Amino acid sequence: MTVSTSTYGPADLIDPDLHASGEVHRLWRWMRQHAPVHWHEPGDLPGFWSLTRYEDVRHAYQNPAVFSSAQGVLLRPTALGEDPGSGLTMALTDPPRHRALRGQVADRFTERCARSLADEMRAEIRSVVTRAIASGTCDVVHDIGARLSSYNISRLLGVPPDDREQLLTWSTEAFESGKPLTSHVPLMRYFIDMMYARMETPADDAMGMFVNNEVHDDLLSETEILLGVENLVGASENAGLSMAAGILALVAHPRQWQRLVGARDGEFVRTAAEEVLRWTSSATHSMRTATADTVVRGRRIAAGDRVVLWIPSANRDESVFTDPDRFDLGRQPNRHLALGTGEHVCIGSTMARHQMRMLLEALAELVAAIEPAGEVEPLRSITVNGPAHATVRLVAN
Ligand code: HEM
Repeated sequence: MTVSTSTYGPADLIDPDLHASGEVHRLWRWMRQHAPVHWHEPGDLPGFWSLTRYEDVRHAYQNPAVFSSAQGVLLRPTALGEDPGSGLTMALTDPPRHRALRGQVADRFTERCARSLADEMRAEIRSVVTRAIASGTCDVVHDIGARLSSYNISRLLGVPPDDREQLLTWSTEAFESGKPLTSHVPLMRYFIDMMYARMETPADDAMGMFVNNEVHDDLLSETEILLGVENLVGASENAGLSMAAGILALVAHPRQWQRLVGARDGEFVRTAAEEVLRWTSSATHSMRTATADTVVRGRRIAAGDRVVLWIPSANRDESVFTDPDRFDLGRQPNRHLALGTGEHVCIGSTMARHQMRMLLEALAELVAAIEPAGEVEPLRSITVNGPAHATVRLVAN
């Protein structure tokens, strides 16, 4: 099966180069129209169904009893076997265990908690932007996106401010190696020490909660705690990619940048942040495994089949979003699925939204212009999307 206007088809959906080129959006558009529920034959990856329409992606997210997370939520080469966190971490469990695990750390992710951290976060974001301006040119991926998202997760876990830059360096190395965080020795040693410290002296941070709050009347094992930390740190990298890709979207759409700079009300920043999240959709897919035979748009999905929910495709579904390929900071309504929905909706979504709004505010206030200063190198991945490196010049206001 091929897309009528080009040489690639649904089988190429697992080609990282197609994602890096951005051409994947043309394929998804074709699939939404002609093959919205599509079976991908097994190869290096297990066979899987692709869902590309908004309603179908939402339906799968909202029915965890049929679409289970416990056997993995990301496509993994068959040779690697099951994800080590399967059945153990928040992302990789189903209710009722999932609810209990999420409840264990939920206090750290509430709106109230985000508000209490707002002043500190705002000051941090302004300082990162000011530093990027002062440095002449900067890599928006590392110097802004990854730095802010790493500082943020460090703060939630309870990493002291003086250690946060070191954590950023280790996480960047781990991320760029493409290997699981748990295989990065200095990073894991740091978290292991921190875990033991919290066992000695409890604290009101996410590490303290993993260590000291019970889940169904039991404390987590050390392995479960470290996998939980890995889950949080890994998932939070999406925020950095969204922020970096958002800045590049503003460079590519000067009229939208002018709207942001000219905006005088907080409500505009709110809609702008949602549009950046939709447009960048940094998480590319979520996977589920069918627990029972089920039917989606007339196609029979058998118990045990893998089902892949393509998030950027759902977020460009023309039956839900007017003019979906337009980056429009004033877009309303904008019920995008960039942060998932249902039982597993992103636990970091409140933080991510606050951070994105504060970044847009800081840019509008401190920066007169954002100029490209080098090639944008895209990530080659079917799991996350955004830039790998992109040099820009932030001109001071
Ligand atoms: C723009 C930023 C972000 C994006 C686009 C994003 C995206 C997502 C998506 C799509 C899911 C659903 C996964 C699924 O249902 O299988 C998810 C879940 C999750 N996210 Fe985020 N995320 C972001 C920021 C963060 C941050 C800042 C954190 C941590 C502080 C975080 C931690 C998590 C965790 C732990 C889960 C699993 C929740 C559960 O299974 O109950 N994310 N995220």
